Amino acid sequence: LFNNPTNNVIGSKRFYSIEQLKQKTKNQKLIQWVEEQAKLCKPDKIYICDGSEEEFNRLCNDMVEKGVITKLNSSKKPNCYLARSDPSDVARVESRTYICSNKKEDAGPTNNWMDPKEMKATLKPLFDGSMKGRTMYVMPFSMGPLGSSISHVGVEVTDSPFVVCNMKIMTRMGDKVLEQLKENDSFVPCLHSVGAPLKPGQKDSNWPCNSTKYIVQYPDERAIVSYGSGYGGNALLGKKCFSLRIASAMARDDGWLAEHMLILGLTNDKGEKKYIAAAFPSACGKTNLAMMTPTIPGWKVETVGDDICWMKFGKDGRLYAINPENGFFGVAPGTSASSNPNALKAIDRNTLYTNVALTPDNDVWWEGLSNPPSKAIDWTGKEWAPGSKTPAAHPNSRFTAPLNQCPSIDPAWDDPKGVPISAIIFGGRRSSTIPLVYQALDWKHGTFMGASTASELTAAAEGTVGKIRHDPFAMLPFCGYNMGDYFSHWLSMENKTKPELLPKIFYVNWFRKSPSGKFLWPGFGENSRVLKWIFQRCNAKGMEYADNSPIGIIPANDSLDLNGLDISKDNIRQLFSLNKTEWMGDLKSMREYCKQFGNKLPKEMNQQMDNLEKRFKDF
Ligand code: PEP
Ligand code: NA
Ligand code: MN
Repeated sequence: LFNNPTNNVIGSKRFYSIEQLKQKTKNQKLIQWVEEQAKLCKPDKIYICDGSEEEFNRLCNDMVEKGVITKLNSSKKPNCYLARSDPSDVARVESRTYICSNKKEDAGPTNNWMDPKEMKATLKPLFDGSMKGRTMYVMPFSMGPLGSSISHVGVEVTDSPFVVCNMKIMTRMGDKVLEQLKENDSFVPCLHSVGAPLKPGQKDSNWPCNSTKYIVQYPDERAIVSYGSGYGGNALLGKKCFSLRIASAMARDDGWLAEHMLILGLTNDKGEKKYIAAAFPSACGKTNLAMMTPTIPGWKVETVGDDICWMKFGKDGRLYAINPENGFFGVAPGTSASSNPNALKAIDRNTLYTNVALTPDNDVWWEGLSNPPSKAIDWTGKEWAPGSKTPAAHPNSRFTAPLNQCPSIDPAWDDPKGVPISAIIFGGRRSSTIPLVYQALDWKHGTFMGASTASELTAAAEGTVGKIRHDPFAMLPFCGYNMGDYFSHWLSMENKTKPELLPKIFYVNWFRKSPSGKFLWPGFGENSRVLKWIFQRCNAKGMEYADNSPIGIIPANDSLDLNGLDISKDNIRQLFSLNKTEWMGDLKSMREYCKQFGNKLPKEMNQQMDNLEKRFKDF
C-alpha cells in the first residue's frame, strides 16, 4: 500500500497517511507537528510527498485535467506548464511580511513586527479549517546538498499542489530528505495555506488565494507560517522565508552568513579558478551575472546560484558557500538569447511558468524575448495582440527551472563541502557617483560598503523612478532580525579567522551614465573585465593593479583589461571620476539612514563614515 501512489490519498481517513509518515520517520517532533497542523487545518486528505518525478508528473497532469494549469507544446517545451495567478497575487507582499521575534527590538526598524503570541492568536482562526475540501501535502525538504554540514532541513505543509511542484524543483524534496532526518534532528516547520477552504460541491478557482495575507517568520523558534498567497516568495517557504529570514537568524546565533547573493566560479585563461559571491538589489542583473558569458578570451564563468548563498567557515579558516536552492525562480521579461542565453536554455524543458503569455502554438512568450507573436493569450487569460496597451506577460512573471539544466552550471554546484569564496561583491543601480569598481580597504570598510548598498528605483517597482532606496547588503526585505545587529554580525566575522583568509570585498556599478543620460559601460559579458580585475586583486601582493583613492582601492591606470573593447578614454574617465559633492551627499544620506538603528548601530559604522569624510578632506 505504501508504494502505491493512488493509495496515498485516502478519503476522509486522514490519519492513515500519518501512519505512512510514521513508517518513513522516527522523528516524533515531525509526526506530532504534522498531526497538529492537520487537526487545525482540517484537510480532507493528507499526502506525504516522496519527491519523485512520477509524483511531479502525476500532480501536474491532475492540475491540467482540472484546467488549473496548461501543458505547453511538448515538441517546443517538453514537460513544461503554464499557470496564471489570481491578478491580485503576483508578487511578494512586504507590507504583509512579519518578523515575530519575542522582543520587538530584535526585529528592528526595517521589519514589520508583532508579538508572537498576538500573531498566533491572529492566525489560529484563519487556519482553523482553512484546508477543508483540499489535500494537505507534506514536504520534507533540504536547503542545500544532502549530507552537507552547511545545509538545513525544513518541512512544509501546504494545500497547493502547484506549490508542491515548484518546491520539487526549487529544493531537494521528499523521501531522501526524511532518510537524512534522524530521530532527534530539528527541522524548520513551515505551514502554508492559500486560505481558501472549499464547501462540499463548491467549484475551485484555478488560483485559490485570500485577500488577507500573512507571511510570518518566528526567528526565535525557527518557524514559518504563511497564509493567503500561492505566489513564489510568499508560498515556496524554503526560499526567502527560510533561506534568508530564518537562516539569517540561525547564522547570527551560530557564526555564519545567510545572504542574498549569487555564487559564480571564475576561471582565468590559465585554468586557475576562484569563487565569487555577489549581492545586488532586485533589477540589477544578479541572474545575468551568475550566468554570464565572458568576452575576454579564455575566461569562463560557471554558475553555482543566482539568489541565495550560505557561507560557513571550513577547518582551513576560509568561508565555504553553498547555494541552498535546487532551482531558479527567475523573472521572465527581459530574458532573451542575447541578454542571457544560458537562462533561456535552462528553461526549455521541465519548467513551470507563471503569468507569462501563451502563443497560438502553445508556447510561451514575454516582453523582451523576441519579436511579438501576431497574437497571444495574456497573463490574465485574455486575447492579446502587439500594440495592445497592457503587457502580454506580467512584469513579475516567472520561470521555475532545475538548476542543473543551466548550461553554465558549476561542477561543484551540488558539492556538500561548498565552494571557497575569494571575493564578495556589492552593487546597485546608480547613474552617478559610484565608479565602475572599487575595493574595500579592509573587512570593516567592506562591511560599511555592504551596509551602504543603495539602488535607484526602476519603473518595475513602486515609488519615484530614479529615487535612491537604501538596501543594506540587498537584504532589506530579507533580514530576519535587527539590521543594526546584522551589521555587527558581519563585523564579527573578522574575529573568526585570519584576515588574509577572509574574502576580499568589492563594490561595482554597471549603470553609471553620462550627463546626457547614456550608459557609460556596455555591461553583460563585458563585465568580465571587471571580474578579471577582481580576480587579479585577490592574487595581488599589496597594491599591484591598484591605486588609492578617498573611497578605497581603485584600478591603476591601464590595469583594467580593455583589449578589444570599443570604448572611449573619456567614457573610462567618467566611469571612474569621483565627485566630492556627490560623495558627501551620499554620506549625509547614509548618516540619516543609520539614525533609525539607534544604539544598535555598531560604532565602527560611524567610524567608517568619519574615515570616509576625512579621506575626502583634501580631495
Ligand atoms: C520572489 O518574489 O519570490 C523572489 C524570488 O523575489 P526576488 O526575485 O525579488 O528575489
Ligand atoms: Na518579487
Ligand atoms: Mn532575490
